[in-house]
Amino acid sequence: MRFAIAGGVALLAASASAQLYPSQSPLNHTCLLQKPLLSCPPQDPAVVDSCCVETFGGLLLSTQFWDTYTGRESEGQLLPKNTWSLHGLWPDFCNGSYTQYCDLTRQYDPVPSPNTTDGTPTGTPVPPYTGPNIGTFLEPFGKYDLLEYMNTYWIAQNQDNAGFWGHEFSKHATCFSTFDVACYGPQYVEHEEVVDFFETAIKYYKKFPTFKWLKKAGITPSNSTTYSYAEIRDTLFARHGGVPFIGCSGPRYNTTEAGKNSTDTGYTVLSEVWYYEYVYGRPQEGDTVSVNASSTYLTNCAKTDGAIHYYERGPASEKKPTVPF
Ligand SMILES: *[C@@H]1O[C@H](CO)[C@@H](O)[C@H](O)[C@H]1NC(C)=O
Ligand SMILES: *[C@@H]1O[C@H](CO)[C@@H](O)[C@H](O)[C@H]1NC(C)=O
Ligand SMILES: *[C@@H]1O[C@H](CO)[C@@H](O)[C@H](O)[C@H]1NC(C)=O
Ligand SMILES: *[C@@H]1O[C@H](CO)[C@@H](O)[C@H](O)[C@H]1NC(C)=O
Ligand SMILES: *[C@@H]1O[C@H](CO)[C@@H](O)[C@H](O)[C@H]1NC(C)=O
Ligand SMILES: *[C@@H]1O[C@H](CO)[C@@H](O)[C@H](O)[C@H]1NC(C)=O
Ligand SMILES: *[C@@H]1O[C@H](CO)[C@@H](O)[C@H](O)[C@H]1NC(C)=O
Repeated sequence: MRFAIAGGVALLAASASAQLYPSQSPLNHTCLLQKPLLSCPPQDPAVVDSCCVETFGGLLLSTQFWDTYTGRESEGQLLPKNTWSLHGLWPDFCNGSYTQYCDLTRQYDPVPSPNTTDGTPTGTPVPPYTGPNIGTFLEPFGKYDLLEYMNTYWIAQNQDNAGFWGHEFSKHATCFSTFDVACYGPQYVEHEEVVDFFETAIKYYKKFPTFKWLKKAGITPSNSTTYSYAEIRDTLFARHGGVPFIGCSGPRYNTTEAGKNSTDTGYTVLSEVWYYEYVYGRPQEGDTVSVNASSTYLTNCAKTDGAIHYYERGPASEKKPTVPF
C-alpha cells in the first residue's frame, strides 16, 4: 500500500518497521523508460513511480563542513587540506520541512540523534546500532576505492567516520523514495542502496568545490583576517546559482569584543554550507537545478561587516589528500 504524503510523518512515527512505501513491488522500475520529472513541486506517488522521481522529499540539500579539528587526530582521522569536508545529502520536503530515520529496518547509526523519529520524548525510539560499522558494508562489493575516498573527504568530528556515515544513511537516506530497496529490483543485494547512496552523495559534493570557489574570491582561511557574511554568500551564489544556507558556530557577535554593544546576535565562526537543488528523475543521475535556500533560513551567521572568522586549521588536524577531490 502506498500512503498519501499528507499525514505521512505521523504514519511513519506510528510504526517501528515503517518504510516509505512498504508494499512496493520490486518489479518494473526501469526509470529510463519514464519521463524524468522534477522533484519539486511534489509529485503524487500514486501516479508516478517513486523509484524514478523523488516523490517523498524533493528538495535536496548537499551539505559540507568547514571543521578545524576532528578530535580524533591521534587515531589518524584528519581533514582534507584545502577542502571542505562532506556532511551529507538530505531530502527535504519541497516546503523545507523534513522527516528522519524513515526506515528503522535500516538503522545503522550507533548514536542516533535525535533518539526518536520525531525528536520528541514520545516519538518512536531509534535504537542505537551495535553491528559491524556501515563502512564494512562496502567490502563485499569490492568498493575499497570508495572507502578510501570517504575516509579522505567524509570526515566526522568527535566520532569515527563510519559511525557518522551510518548516521547520515539512516537518518537521511532512508527518507528518499529513490533509495528504497524495492527500487533495486528482484535481484537486490543487501546494502546495494547504501553503496548507491554514498556514491550519489559524493557525486553532488564534487560539483560544489566550496574551498576553491571562496579562494578564487580571495576568501581563504585566516586567523588574522575576518570576512563578511555578504561576500561569502555572494561568492557562493554566483558559483552555485542558488543562495546556499551558510552556517556559523562559535560565539555570538554581540558577545565578542568586536561586537560589544551590537544587536547582531549571529554566530561568528564559519562552519557549514548547504546547497539546495531540485532534481529531474532519480537523484542518482545528478540532473539538478540549483535553487535558493529558504528566505526565512539563509544563515545563522552574524551579518555585520567583517564579523566572520574562517579559521585556519592546525597542521596536526589536516593532511594532503592522497586521492583527488
Ligand atoms: C510540508 O510538506 C509535507 C509533505 O507534503 C507535509 O506533510 C507537511 O505538513 C508540510 N509542512 C508544512 C509546514 O506545510
Ligand atoms: C510489471 O511486471 C509484471 C511481471 O512481468 C507484469 O505482469 C506487469 O504487467 C508489469 N507492470 C507494468 C505496469 O508494467
Ligand atoms: C533520548 O535522550 C534523552 C536525553 O538524553 C533521554 O532522556 C531519553 O530517555 C532518550 N530516549 C530514548 C528513547 O532513548
Ligand atoms: C547577546 O544576545 C543574546 C541573544 O539575544 C542575549 O541573550 C545576550 O544577553 C547578549 N549578550 C550580550 C553580552 O549582549
Ligand atoms: C559600548 O557602550 C559603552 C557604554 O555606552 C561605551 O562606553 C563603549 O565605548 C561601547 N563599546 C563599543 C565597542 O562601542
Ligand atoms: C535567489 O536569490 C537571489 C539573490 O538574493 C535573488 O536575486 C533571486 O531572485 C532568488 N531567486 C528566486 C527564484 O527567488
Ligand atoms: C587558527 O585558529 C583555530 C581556532 O582557534 C585553531 O584551531 C587553529 O589551530 C589555528 N590555526 C593556526 C594555523 O594557528
